[in-house]
Amino acid sequence: MGISTVVGAGDAQVAAHARALRGEVSVPGDKSISHRALMFNALARGAARVDGFLDSADTRSTIHCLRLMGATIEELEDGGVLIHGAGRAALHEPDDVLDCGNSGTSMRLLAGILAGLPFLSILTGDASLRQRPMDRIAGPLREMGARIHARQERFAPLVIEGGTVHGGLTMRTPMASAQVKSAILLAGLGADAPTTVVEPAQSRDHTERMLAAMGAGIEVDGRQVVLTPPSGDLQAVDVRVPGDISTAAAWMVAGVAHPDAELRLLGVGMNPSRTGLIDILRAMGADLEVEEERVVGGEPVADVVVRSSRLRGVEVGGALVPRAIDELPLVALAACLAEGETVIRDAEELVVKESNRVATTAEALRALGATVEERPDGMVVQGGARLTGATVRSSGDHRLAMLGAVAGLIATGETTVEGAGDVAVSYPAFWSDLGRLRQS
Ligand code: S3P
Repeated sequence: MGISTVVGAGDAQVAAHARALRGEVSVPGDKSISHRALMFNALARGAARVDGFLDSADTRSTIHCLRLMGATIEELEDGGVLIHGAGRAALHEPDDVLDCGNSGTSMRLLAGILAGLPFLSILTGDASLRQRPMDRIAGPLREMGARIHARQERFAPLVIEGGTVHGGLTMRTPMASAQVKSAILLAGLGADAPTTVVEPAQSRDHTERMLAAMGAGIEVDGRQVVLTPPSGDLQAVDVRVPGDISTAAAWMVAGVAHPDAELRLLGVGMNPSRTGLIDILRAMGADLEVEEERVVGGEPVADVVVRSSRLRGVEVGGALVPRAIDELPLVALAACLAEGETVIRDAEELVVKESNRVATTAEALRALGATVEERPDGMVVQGGARLTGATVRSSGDHRLAMLGAVAGLIATGETTVEGAGDVAVSYPAFWSDLGRLRQS
């Protein structure tokens, strides 16, 4: 057995060194797109089916909140989801607090929706989410006309008294964040005039693509998006969700960094606002092929084949950072095993993710023997490390649990991942897929 539960260690798992990695993975549905398919269809008029939906703790949080707001969501035996939208006006005041669990996307996008709806709602989440900054959405939504109270001015629980939202505004966001951009655009759906968002660098554009397909006016010009609300409700649309590149990322890095690996990842979303990791790995010299490119439900998709590679250090910064933001801990792992130094800069957003990913990534990789210097906007990783099995903590962060496990496949001996169950936030089948791909 390559993996086993450690008795008495909570939800710890051992990821032992793998002699080789071989096989295929059908990558689970994209988390960002799954959330949006639920929320936007709940606002729309008509029935919509979502296929390839990611069933995970985070998307369950969105379903839970939308149901409390009056949405009708049916989970089908085949894994699909049906949403019966009756328009924005059919949503009503929730009679309980909306618990978003660990999900920043649920909280920030729902806040945008709720800002434009004429009732009171309270959004909360788990201990991690209650420490993440919400002033980044509360500020712009207040400017648009919503009344929002936040704990200590910036944290959840958030109390939202929604209603009249003004259009005609240009909102300039200080950070490239699709959650902030989406919250503003969703509030703008309820306004009487267009809303403009300008970002410092372009963040993922799933909101723009889906709202345009549902009948909203969307004009994108580089870092600027202008939303013109539809005259009536959005129209429901069926969504086929592509595989999540942020999930595939674990196997991409495992495949290129392990000395004896060949992995094929099927149906990976290739939206250009998300493919920064592919660009980074190629710049590091990775043997990575993108095959069978196709379009699925308005999003580009492909299969990705990765093989053991000799990697070299790189510099990662600028507009590349938002295109790879969730994958940067894995880039740091690849960097430990590369030749030379890797510098990750302009990535201060890492500090406000599900954990402080500058600190938690450095802690995990150092525990395994790597040399990592933390910086306020990223990290500097020395290549040429010889990773040795150790105990690594997820720090309540699904991406750190996966980082520890992938590192364990490469390190000598056994690596214990504490908080292994956190993978359920975005990839419930992670440990069983790992068991299938590893050869001992
Ligand atoms: C997401 C946007 C990103 C990302 C998160 C999902 C989204 O956050 O880190 O996992 O679905 O819009 P930011 O928008 O805050 O960068």
